[in-house]
Amino acid sequence: MIEALKNLESEASREAGGAVDSKVLQEIKVKYLGRKGLFASVSARIGEVPPEERRAAGQELNRVKAALEAVFNSRENELKAAPPRRPGSCPDPTMPGTFYALGGLHPLTQVVLDVTRIFSRLGFSVVEGPEVETERANFEALNIPLDHPARDSFDTFYLENGKLLRSQTSTVQIRVMERSKPPIKIIAPGKVFRPDATDATHSFMFHQIEGLCIDTHVSFADLKGVLFAFAREFFGSKTRLRFRPHFFPFTEPSAEIDLYFEKQGWLEILGAGMVHPNVLRAGKIDPEKYSGFAFGMGVERIAMLKYGVEDIRQFFENDVRFLRQF
Ligand code: DAH
Repeated sequence: MIEALKNLESEASREAGGAVDSKVLQEIKVKYLGRKGLFASVSARIGEVPPEERRAAGQELNRVKAALEAVFNSRENELKAAPPRRPGSCPDPTMPGTFYALGGLHPLTQVVLDVTRIFSRLGFSVVEGPEVETERANFEALNIPLDHPARDSFDTFYLENGKLLRSQTSTVQIRVMERSKPPIKIIAPGKVFRPDATDATHSFMFHQIEGLCIDTHVSFADLKGVLFAFAREFFGSKTRLRFRPHFFPFTEPSAEIDLYFEKQGWLEILGAGMVHPNVLRAGKIDPEKYSGFAFGMGVERIAMLKYGVEDIRQFFENDVRFLRQF
């Protein structure tokens, strides 16, 4: 019986605590303390208690009855003090849940990831280089002499400490050659900076992906094979490429590679060539023993061509109506 009283006590306080208004509380009180309530039915069992325990049981009955009355009184006072509930303020379990928008990767990040994934499968590893660079890594080691027009301050941001903001990711070539021996097969994505006036196709900051492959017997045919494999994976299996002779100081021979688009015809997508012997020498690699190819592509440019984006500034304006489309 003592056990039953304990349960009764805890159940009654739990239910009283959950009562939302006085009317409900009153019903609960009747259920427990009413004439035919649970307390009455437990106390009726006092006759079953052995005589020697009856005194203790009686005391417990009195204690629990007083405790229950106190519980109901205090809950009654609480309910009186609390502001009345407004209709509809009860949680509605049928309401749709709160929606948290999921973020996504920026389209340029997605393009970099797509490109690096393709080259990874071709055996290239991904490396990064610093954005603040030396003149040597950005120019000299890449066979760009002092009088080359690209060195004009118009095309490069110079810093007061004699360094510069790299204007091409080709800087990574020299850094990799200096710290590793052939075979070298790397791809280097990153930001580059040029003091260009901003318009639909120019930005003072944009992204490039550089590729470099150096080993014994690397030929122009290897360059073609790798670039075809990349372009067909990235732009589609029917993609056509055109290699057009060009000049870059750091490659010999050099080419610009165009991609064929139904509407616009041939469009340039990247520069490439066989690494110039002077560049290999600058990287402490023997040009008699090794040869290599290199290429560089603009990330914004290939993203614009792939997705039909007409203004480069859209990538940098952080307008979610644009970004959400990717
Ligand atoms: N660095 C060149 C640019 O910014 C792109 C480039 C062309 C990179 C030919 C290369 C290359 O590695 O071989 O326009």
